[in-house]
Amino acid sequence: MCGIIGYVGPQGAQKVLVDALRRMEYRGYDSAGIALVGSDGIASAKKAGKLLNLEAELDETPIPDANLGIGHTRWATHGAPSDANAHPHISSNGRVALVHNGIIENFAVLKAELQAAGVEFRSETDSEVAAHLVGREVEGGASLADALRSVARRLEGAFTLVAVDKDSPGTLVAARRNSPLVVGVGEGEMFVASDVAAFIEHTREAVEMGQDEVVEVTASGYRVTDFDGNETEGKPFHVDWDLSAAEKGGYDWFMRKEIYEQPRAVADTLLGRFDADRRLTLDEIRISETELRTIDKIVVVACGTAYYAGLVAKYAIEHWTRVACEVEIASEFRYRDPIITPRTLVVTISQSGETADTLMAVRHAREQGAKVIAICNTNGSTIPRESDAVLYTHAGPEIGVASTKGFLTQVAACYLLGLYLAQVRGTKYGDEIASIMAELESMPDKIQAVLDDAESVHALARELVDEKSVLFLGRHVGYPVALEGALKLKEIAYLHAEGFPAGELKHGPIALVEEGLPVFVIVPPQGRDQLHDKVISNIQEVRARGARTIVLVEEGDTVVEPYADVILRLPKASTLLQPLLATVPLQIFACEVATLKGYDVDQPRNLAKSVTVE
Ligand code: F6R
Repeated sequence: MCGIIGYVGPQGAQKVLVDALRRMEYRGYDSAGIALVGSDGIASAKKAGKLLNLEAELDETPIPDANLGIGHTRWATHGAPSDANAHPHISSNGRVALVHNGIIENFAVLKAELQAAGVEFRSETDSEVAAHLVGREVEGGASLADALRSVARRLEGAFTLVAVDKDSPGTLVAARRNSPLVVGVGEGEMFVASDVAAFIEHTREAVEMGQDEVVEVTASGYRVTDFDGNETEGKPFHVDWDLSAAEKGGYDWFMRKEIYEQPRAVADTLLGRFDADRRLTLDEIRISETELRTIDKIVVVACGTAYYAGLVAKYAIEHWTRVACEVEIASEFRYRDPIITPRTLVVTISQSGETADTLMAVRHAREQGAKVIAICNTNGSTIPRESDAVLYTHAGPEIGVASTKGFLTQVAACYLLGLYLAQVRGTKYGDEIASIMAELESMPDKIQAVLDDAESVHALARELVDEKSVLFLGRHVGYPVALEGALKLKEIAYLHAEGFPAGELKHGPIALVEEGLPVFVIVPPQGRDQLHDKVISNIQEVRARGARTIVLVEEGDTVVEPYADVILRLPKASTLLQPLLATVPLQIFACEVATLKGYDVDQPRNLAKSVTVE
């Protein structure tokens, strides 16, 4: 996730900004830049790669220091990590420098409008449109704050924007919608930033900005309004975290922070997927619709958690497209001489985009003439570069080794892919696709509701912390959720855990069930009666053998109550989309058990975040 800093005050801004960017390095980034506003106007420097590259550039080609400036670390979404795509972006009239975090959903329309008016673009980013738009507003006589308010009203999507104008050298302005922004209040100096870690060494007094608000900041104070200019008030707070807690937004672990980021991550993954005619589009398509219509088989290839996202995808893709979909563990794929033809569509899923097993599968599939679509979270990484098309998840960097928001956004992206293929192949009507999309768009709020109920999961973790073994059962899409719940527990709590298809237990594993064994069961929504009833029978089977049943079930479903020792309620959702909700309590459970056991949740033993060997 991009890191943003703005500074105005008596200190040399260059050092303040670069230090702040260093404090935000933990967020992950692929390029960095600053812009300073002094008596000679705006001077900027930006470089792809690590902050060291930017510092080397500033050493080689110094820019005049000033008392006002903005800085940015970029996590690429639109356009590869490059010097040109790095922020800040300068308006074409040279007046405004701007940094952005988030996704401007309607940037293509705005870009076309600006190009028609003669504006030349220097980057592939969505952010640059905002710089030009603000530049044009101030040129037309608007104050910087009015300009930003007017532009913010036109933007759709998620954004934190910070802008400076060379003709207002004492002021910086910032706007936020669905993306973080805090103001740091120092003595005679002020900061705006994505998080308090950026300015914690200068001040611990901060103001949290509300949704759809603009703040105008000078060295001596700040003024908050809504996008229409009506005065509002930010929420002042005192930061009493140390730096390492500040980096984690006050959470004890990155993993926990990332679990709580999931509503935003899923919402961002769904953003900007429609063209002007409300047809779904992929990020970067190098496969024609004609070719996609000739596909006779889909093979999803991935590892670990990403593989489980692929298992969920199979149900959705086959249901919506009626094309056979296989799911394969990447490390097994090429060794079994898979039947791959030019009519096979291979879909790889990888958070990092660098997993060697998955990369080898991409190469093997392409050698066989198949087209490859990558679902990936890391812009510019190897797997999307070597694939024919890419659909980026917009989870932001995932730092905790155990994947959480990576998984949920992969599942969301798989749904998008399934719907896109259904649209191209005509297996679903436009209104059916729109109605599934509408349900998908309602999921972030429901995920938030699950998070709001975390205390019941914490209580369960306290109760079960000393267990030696835990089972997870599910049917249909609940099965991959069971596998993912078990994997999380193995990875970070080092606890023996297994996930099974609920109906398979009686074919052997039920012998493991003994008095008191905790068994989590994911119950499908009630609409699919056969599926639902079968899972209820499976709960009874294990309970009759002494299992302690912990049942995840939708609100209002009372059928299961007599057979459940513990009930974890989920908001209502259709069967296919339920994994976006049912996975979350299992992530929280694993995180809490590992915390209670005193383990390092973010860096579990023997594991690496990116597995670049086969
Ligand atoms: C589990 C986990 C791993 C990864 C797997 C694939 O929590 O993180 O199982 O999912 O190594 O990694 P990516 O998605 O980067 O290819």
